[in-house]
Amino acid sequence: MRYMYKPTIITCIVTCFVCACFFFACSKKADQVSSPANFVPPGITTDNVTYTNYVSIILKNNCSTCHGLDGSAAHYWYNNATYDNAVLNGRRIMETIVENSMPPVPRKPFSEDDKALLIAWIDRGSPE
Ligand code: HEC
Repeated sequence: MRYMYKPTIITCIVTCFVCACFFFACSKKADQVSSPANFVPPGITTDNVTYTNYVSIILKNNCSTCHGLDGSAAHYWYNNATYDNAVLNGRRIMETIVENSMPPVPRKPFSEDDKALLIAWIDRGSPE
């Protein structure tokens, strides 16, 4: 007896579902890149921004997966979550974020308000 594969309605539905998943997964990525993310906590301005109230939080949440302990990019710049380390690398950290080269796609670039806070933190002498 010869085996013949007959597509059933179930097979068609499953195929359509898988295609739809791929389609939505791809279009979602494109959206993420276009809209910047805003990480500015309430009450933080360019006049009171410090390492503790802003910089340490954005480094931990946006950079440490790759640049922290055991991260894939720890050898380029290592975030050990200390103030001294953030000051040592601060200018380059600020520049990569302002230029949108970090964090890499598909992660969202930082908002203009976030960039202004980082520039202000460096300009004000990187207060702790
Ligand atoms: C998904 C992983 C990933 C994340 C998240 C990430 N990086 Fe990177 N980073 C890399 C890789 C990979 C390189 C090296 C490749 C390159 O130079 O483009 C790198 C290189 C760097 C460098 C050194 C190269 C240079 O241009 O000076 C700096 C500084 C940097 N990243 C800052 C950051 C900051 C700040 C964040 C958080 C806002 C961040 N990265 C988030 C993967 C990441």
